[in-house]
Amino acid sequence: MTFDVEQVRAAYPALRDGYAYLDGAAGTQVPETVIAAVAAAARAGIGNSGGAFPASHRASAIVTGCRRAVADLAGGSADGVILGPNMTTLTYRLAAALADTWWPGNEIVLSRLDHDANVRPWIQAAARASVTVRWAEVDISTGELPAAQYQALVSERTRLVAVTAASNILGTRPDVPAITARAHAAGALAYVDGVHATPHAPADVRALGADFYATSAYKWSGPHIGAVIADPVLLDTLRPDKLASSPDTVPERFELGTPAYADLAGVTAAVDHLAGLGGGQQGSRRERIVASMTAVQEYEGGLFADLLGALEAMEHVTTYGKAASRTATAYFNVAGYTPAEVAAHLAGRHVNVWNGHNYAWELTGALGIRDTGGAVRAGLVHYNDRSEVDRFLAAVGELAG
Ligand SMILES: Cc1ncc(COP(=O)(O)O)c(C=O)c1O
Repeated sequence: MTFDVEQVRAAYPALRDGYAYLDGAAGTQVPETVIAAVAAAARAGIGNSGGAFPASHRASAIVTGCRRAVADLAGGSADGVILGPNMTTLTYRLAAALADTWWPGNEIVLSRLDHDANVRPWIQAAARASVTVRWAEVDISTGELPAAQYQALVSERTRLVAVTAASNILGTRPDVPAITARAHAAGALAYVDGVHATPHAPADVRALGADFYATSAYKWSGPHIGAVIADPVLLDTLRPDKLASSPDTVPERFELGTPAYADLAGVTAAVDHLAGLGGGQQGSRRERIVASMTAVQEYEGGLFADLLGALEAMEHVTTYGKAASRTATAYFNVAGYTPAEVAAHLAGRHVNVWNGHNYAWELTGALGIRDTGGAVRAGLVHYNDRSEVDRFLAAVGELAG
């Protein structure tokens, strides 16, 4: 499988502004095909779905197409794809619906590796239901989330295990199949945050053992739309708050109000774009996505090994995390400079990075850096190239002693 980064980059108008976008973990740029799909949907005329006229039929087709595309991306069932504004909103919604099935004495297990969007909604729902929260801890020296601890954490009292498929700051990819297997053995459900993982490797909700898999299209070249993928049979057992007049079917029952139709057309275009990244034209869209994302993982991995190796070799730089399996995401501090100063210096060199806790609230707390400005995050996605990595390393190098 070939990976032609020049060809990939040419598809993204925003990359022509001369900046190295190493901020993909906070949100990616969109290719021309996504922009065109959003514009085409609006230009063609969109009604509300469920009506008698063509513009309404087009809206319904956009939604159906988007569910199919997201299901192909994650390896799930289109009938179980819940669409919404972003992962955080959807997770609050599912936390409320699931908490209606919990009782005092029940427990849930959260992880300190997770972005706060897969932590706080569960803590707040648990407090309302008088449910106990138990914590899986990160090994701070490595950034790993050891799966073995779930053996003792999960019991017949556990109703839910929420865990990320990848840390948005350290890149750590925990052994999710082992963790979800432990949850299932105890009769608990597993809610997997795939927001950071999805753009970096093939996603497969069944292989992960995820009862719920959350992802956000704006992290993988799409518009600002979130999705949760679940088994429709499981969704049918839940009764979220909804309007009396809105559909009671699954997955529509979980979707509030009128969707962002034009953006949903863009999500489908983003999935089609990902499916073509590896250059392969053969097979179903799902097969092409798996091949493409395998090529992406390999490409990013090679570039990132060089980035991280060079960063770790700089005496004025401290890096965080060294997980055996990780995404192309570096988190680091520079001696003598605050993370904000480093980010400003890099911006001056036309390199976009994030600084701060990046909403990894528990993890930056455990690392002891949450109250001191966190650190700097530089991440790679499929459209980053070697010249950008070189520019980034040169700019960090300028801050030496
Ligand atoms: C790992 C992870 N989970 C959840 C979120 C929240 O996603 P959203 O912005 O779609 O609510 C983010 C956003 O940065 C993230 O990186």
